Amino acid sequence: MPDSGYRVTRYGHSLQTATRAFRDGEDDETVVAALLHDIGDTLAPDNHSQLAAAVLRPYVSEKTHWVVLHHGIFQGYYYFHHIGQDRNERERFRGHPHFDACARFCERWDQTAFDPNYDTMPIEAFEPALRRVLSREPFRQV
Ligand SMILES: [Fe+2]
Ligand SMILES: [Fe+2]
Repeated sequence: MPDSGYRVTRYGHSLQTATRAFRDGEDDETVVAALLHDIGDTLAPDNHSQLAAAVLRPYVSEKTHWVVLHHGIFQGYYYFHHIGQDRNERERFRGHPHFDACARFCERWDQTAFDPNYDTMPIEAFEPALRRVLSREPFRQV
């Protein structure tokens, strides 16, 4: 497998993203979305956002689903220009009601969650929130 460029493992990155969201006082589903946002990275490296969004869709709000679904494009703001792509690809969603939420998700939690020295919380700390969110009555059937 090629070097992912991560300074932390994907699992560590996911825990750190969730920790940062939690410490910002976010609600259960936002923290869970932060924890699971890259869950499709190994299975679907070219469209992992869609995979994670599909997993979460029955249990979260339309807003949280949208944020997870689009986080890959919004993350591009931080690195697409280094790989010959347009870092402003997210601009085609400017004006969307959830644009700012997705930009914030990436700026405050996803993009910053590659710090190997960060005091990341263990998976056990997120188990109660995970159980609360994933045991919700599914309301978005597809
Ligand atoms: Fe991602
Ligand atoms: Fe991520």
